[in-house]
Amino acid sequence: MATFNNFSLLLCFVISSSLMFNIGLSDIALTPSNTPGPVSSYEDYLTNCASKLDSICGKDIFFAIFFGNTTIIEDCCDELVNDVGKVCHDDMTKYVLTKSKFKNSDVQILERSQKIWNDCVSVEL
Ligand SMILES: *[C@@H]1O[C@H](CO)[C@@H](O)[C@H](O)[C@H]1NC(C)=O
Repeated sequence: MATFNNFSLLLCFVISSSLMFNIGLSDIALTPSNTPGPVSSYEDYLTNCASKLDSICGKDIFFAIFFGNTTIIEDCCDELVNDVGKVCHDDMTKYVLTKSKFKNSDVQILERSQKIWNDCVSVEL
């Protein structure tokens, strides 16, 4: 069962940032996961991935990946590397990309996502 957690918070950011700042997101076809109805097990899996980040780190990492305007603090790197893991990190990024349209190209965002992962891993070492 889906609960309102950090991943839905992230998705809400996508929507509200788009509305409030008009930053070039369009064709948003997201349904908040707290609406009634069946949720695919893939979304359950992603929700579980996202729930490993607290809301501060969720925000920090979200903006770092999709807008490149935040620096991820060490504590958040720690959560990302040790709790979320590479597979969840990649899958969440790809999922947000498939569900929304960013002004920055997908390739740019995916590269930044990789860089953030690598930087976090090296901080952790
Ligand atoms: C990063 O950019 C987004 C979109 O322009 C904005 O909503 C957000 O507040 C910015 N964050 C920081 C920390 O500047």
